[in-house]
Amino acid sequence: MCGIIGYAGSQGALEVVIDGLRRLEYRGYDSAGVALLTDQGLAIEKRAGKLSNLMNSLAGRPLDPSTTGIGHTRWATHGGPTDRNAHPHTDCEHKLAVIHNGIIENFVELRQALEKKGHEFSSDTDTESVAHLLEDEYRECNSDLAEAMRRVCRQLRGAFTLVAIHVESPHQVVGARRNSPLVVGRGVDENFLASDVSAFIAHTRSAIELGQDQVVDLRPDSIEITNFDGTPAVTNEYEVTWDSAAAEKGGFDHFMLKEIEEQPRAVNETLMGRVGIDGRLILDEMRLSDDELREIDKIIVIGCGTAYHAGLIAKYAIEHWTRIPVEIELASEFRYRDPIVDRSTLVIAISQSGETMDTLMALRHAREQRARVLAICNTNGSTIPRESDAVFYTHAGPEIAVASTKAFLTQIVAAYLVGLYLAQVRGTKFGDEISEILTQLSAMPAKIEQVLETMEPVRKLANTLKDKQSVLFLGRHVGFPVALEGALKLKELAYMHAEGFAAGELKHGPIALIEEGTPVIVTVPSPRGRSIIHDKVLSNIQEVRARGALTIVIAEEGDESVINFADHIIRIPTCPTLLQPLLATVPLQVFACEMATIKGFDVDQPRNLAKSVTVE
Ligand code: G6P
Repeated sequence: MCGIIGYAGSQGALEVVIDGLRRLEYRGYDSAGVALLTDQGLAIEKRAGKLSNLMNSLAGRPLDPSTTGIGHTRWATHGGPTDRNAHPHTDCEHKLAVIHNGIIENFVELRQALEKKGHEFSSDTDTESVAHLLEDEYRECNSDLAEAMRRVCRQLRGAFTLVAIHVESPHQVVGARRNSPLVVGRGVDENFLASDVSAFIAHTRSAIELGQDQVVDLRPDSIEITNFDGTPAVTNEYEVTWDSAAAEKGGFDHFMLKEIEEQPRAVNETLMGRVGIDGRLILDEMRLSDDELREIDKIIVIGCGTAYHAGLIAKYAIEHWTRIPVEIELASEFRYRDPIVDRSTLVIAISQSGETMDTLMALRHAREQRARVLAICNTNGSTIPRESDAVFYTHAGPEIAVASTKAFLTQIVAAYLVGLYLAQVRGTKFGDEISEILTQLSAMPAKIEQVLETMEPVRKLANTLKDKQSVLFLGRHVGFPVALEGALKLKELAYMHAEGFAAGELKHGPIALIEEGTPVIVTVPSPRGRSIIHDKVLSNIQEVRARGALTIVIAEEGDESVINFADHIIRIPTCPTLLQPLLATVPLQVFACEMATIKGFDVDQPRNLAKSVTVE
């Protein structure tokens, strides 16, 4: 959701800003723009479409040299994705430039008042109001841009990260944040501001979290952070643990392919260091005491998109291991249904980015009701873990492709570890039972690797099915959320009609969708242990096959019972049913990725989407 970068230093600002935008483009790619402070004044270039459009136009019309600049890549909310609405936006005198991520909710009133005062607007965006407000406040407060920003922020409602520069202060960049991400990068004789650290990781690993309602005054040799009321702010400085190579494609055609391949390592790293020498599970970042965890009588898991699917899977395991009732809810729906939440409720917020606004708002609502909130998150220092009582960090490394893959698998692992930890603390599982599940989990990276090594037939299958109108996905138990995730991947990447169903629900309506040749992808649980679910799924496969469906069956090695009902079989290694989503999801990711490639779509940046959705 909009990527932002600001730079004040001694290098060429345009190169730093464009390189940062390249790394942030996954956040939004409706338009891109830069503004530089040059000896000739403010230099701006902005273009609708992907960053490459901006780069082409800069190649034809180079900007004057500069060491201070800002850049923006947009996911449009207010105002269509045109050149005119692209950021940066300027004041009437063209002296200052502003970029913005978020939504200014009171922009209509602000705009009317500003227009009455004679300001002329040249875009349809909410952001432009900020440029004109800054223009007035800057004049009012003796040309102090940071103070003007604080005054403006106090007038705004909604969510915003704002970054501004002014021609009269050629080495200064000012940023502000409320409910939207902004990180400071501390360099040597140069400093950075960005939506996330990937934008400046090639220059520095030293980062400062900007807190809620804070303004940063950035110069090449200083960083001053204040609250919106002007008082000095308390901040947290930290070292980023991964390097810039982690945010590069590393020889793969797409980030998504790289991230799919990284899954064995990501799962392994998420599992590492969780068991003490006595064999007991330790969750270091769990800031909730054992007594608090014993008081919990209900768990509500919240998340969006793929993170929601991870929550759906987690429910099966956590309820089974802890006997605590678990509800799972789309974060965007949670607070509107007046959920029953109190001090003994544990809300688990799952979010790769830690910035998804729907999830953030849901967790704030939960905390207002005094619930304890545990975040499962992949991004250190992001807002959701900061606002939670406890955090479990997944160690997937940066995920750049919009469609989530390695984050999903590690979210499942994280939620499972939380479930086992609760079982340990509350005594609902014996130590040896927990150890056995941990041993099974530790075998999963090698099994995921095995799945990845056998994906060629899945790629071929995508080619065979490329002209189909629709693909259906079926599963029972944990296979149901896997079906939902498989369908989501195909929709978002290949723009095909795809739906996931609980296999048993099929006969209550969706079976009417089956026509001769309709592809139906079914995940079959292990015949061992839960043979009853296995047999029911087999019956469901026969039901669709009898109506002409083309059946593609994901089944474990050695399960011969599926052979007679499958047009295609995708084999996965044996594992307990609860862990099967860690394997069964992988072919579905590969299938969707391959389908998008065959159709010529942008795998990493699907249309209309953004990775980190910081608006509700
Ligand atoms: C967006 C992305 C999805 C992601 C969801 C939740 O919609 O396109 O891939 O699953 O946000 O993101 P989060 O960062 O909260 O996990």
